[in-house]
Amino acid sequence: LLFAAFAISAGLGGIGAGYGVVAATYAASEVGLKGTLGALAVVCGNLTMTLVGVVSALFSTVSFTRGRQLRRFGRVLLPRVEAGDAWAAPSDEVGLADDLDEDTRHALAQTWRDNARTEHASVAAFARLTLDLIALGAPPALVASANRDALDEIRHAEMCFALARSIDGRAEGPAPFPEAARARTLSRVRSFALAELAVDSLIDGALHEGVSARIIAKLARRAVDPDLRAMLKIIAADEGRHARHGWDVVRFCLDEGGESVARALQGAIRALPRTMASELPEPARMGGWERFGIMSGALESREYEAARADLVTRVTDLLAPYEIATRRAA
Ligand SMILES: [Fe+2]
Ligand SMILES: [Fe+2]
Repeated sequence: LLFAAFAISAGLGGIGAGYGVVAATYAASEVGLKGTLGALAVVCGNLTMTLVGVVSALFSTVSFTRGRQLRRFGRVLLPRVEAGDAWAAPSDEVGLADDLDEDTRHALAQTWRDNARTEHASVAAFARLTLDLIALGAPPALVASANRDALDEIRHAEMCFALARSIDGRAEGPAPFPEAARARTLSRVRSFALAELAVDSLIDGALHEGVSARIIAKLARRAVDPDLRAMLKIIAADEGRHARHGWDVVRFCLDEGGESVARALQGAIRALPRTMASELPEPARMGGWERFGIMSGALESREYEAARADLVTRVTDLLAPYEIATRRAA
């Protein structure tokens, strides 16, 4: 991935340099050296911000995640799982997967535990978001949303660990997670920080939380067990709200940062993968676990494509006042 990022950087840099030289040659004759250097600075500045968007987007789309995550160089940070019932209360859920053999039931429970780990890490990601918003001078409504969303993620993590326990009988929860305190921080340069936060919120917030909401809403309709349906409905509604909050953060960054943030968003849109395919256990991938609330490969790719198309349209509208084209990504 790093190699890809460097290759794209080098490519964009090369194109930029080419344009720069051509522009400089024309401009030097008409506006003199000062004007030429100014024009070159604008070209380089624009390219740099586009690159911030491209690289941030590449790092954030290495794998599909259920929502906001903590990352280090693109790698999603998740807690290990250990025995303990603090996060995995006994649930009312009984006999959900009793028709499965023991190994399959354990694999299904593990998949729910993996979901729980991402929900738990999301709590920390929203805490990180709160710090970032405070650092950038965000209004109280945005800070409040980030804190409420963190509380939602605590509830999601508890529900997922409890569900896993009800499936295979193992009381397990997140182990100490010191990496949470060492996750990526934003640049100290305000315009870069706004661009990074805008792209993070676009991808992890608007896109990933939005795709989660769509997938989980569908799964809520396909689940047979009434308690599981109710749980999935709650999570889908929460993730949909988190996605809307992601857009709120994008708009805040755009209002504050102006064109440089717009360039970064344009770069992010261009770097978005066309498809998304998570690693799933074979029976899940084929759709056999949808009745247990686990997505199939087909459901994931369909909802991702729909959410991606919607995202490109909305970003194009957002960037319209800046006259920055994004249609090529559509
Ligand atoms: Fe969640
Ligand atoms: Fe979420």
